[in-house]
Amino acid sequence: MPHAPRPLSPRKGFFITLEGPEGSGKSSQGRWLVRRLRRAGYAVVGLRDPGSTNLGRALRRILLHRKEDMSALMEALLFIGARVQLVEEHIQPALEQGKIVVCDRFHDSTVAYQGFGAGLDVNWLDALGRRAIRDITPTLTLLLDLPTEQGFKRLRHSHDRMERKTRAFHRSVRQGYLQLAKREPKRFMIINAAQPASQVRAQLEEVVLKYLKCKSFSLVTSH
Ligand code: TMP
Repeated sequence: MPHAPRPLSPRKGFFITLEGPEGSGKSSQGRWLVRRLRRAGYAVVGLRDPGSTNLGRALRRILLHRKEDMSALMEALLFIGARVQLVEEHIQPALEQGKIVVCDRFHDSTVAYQGFGAGLDVNWLDALGRRAIRDITPTLTLLLDLPTEQGFKRLRHSHDRMERKTRAFHRSVRQGYLQLAKREPKRFMIINAAQPASQVRAQLEEVVLKYLKCKSFSLVTSH
């Protein structure tokens, strides 16, 4: 019998994820949100999936920069593997300590990119990915949405392996995200990322601070 991972212990913290297609600006908005919440006195851990563990960084290099063709399933399993490590090393301990975790991408990215984008069975992939991370689910997911063409116009650097996929692939990713948001309207908040960055920041601030105020989470503060 394979060893089944034990379920996670009940959580005290607050888990926020930022999701979105290429060029949505979610990484810089996420960094800003971490600083804003710290200024408001919360203890916040800012993470990136994949990338905030040593193994995650190694897998990220393979996933984004190797030249060989990679099957969608291999891609999905590597992203999921990196996430398992991130949950064990950082997310679970921080939430157990009652901290806020702000994570740039998470499980929804795998469903959007390798499921809706690359064509793996969405329900199967969703179930697999959730089991691997022991059903840890964000409390709030901020989906920074914008049309594919607009997102690509904003990318200045040379494109990585995922960004080089066809525009049709990326349009399916965007539509996939919108479907995920429709399925879980209580968890997802869609933010129009085509607005100027200052307006996106104002909306993020309003949504997140209001959310934290009205839910009585036992969060720790930084002082
Ligand atoms: P990032 O640059 O926003 O951190 O994302 C890295 C790229 O990897 C981006 O193109 C989205 C893609 N990706 C997936 O395809 N599946 C996943 O599970 C994750 C987390 C990212």
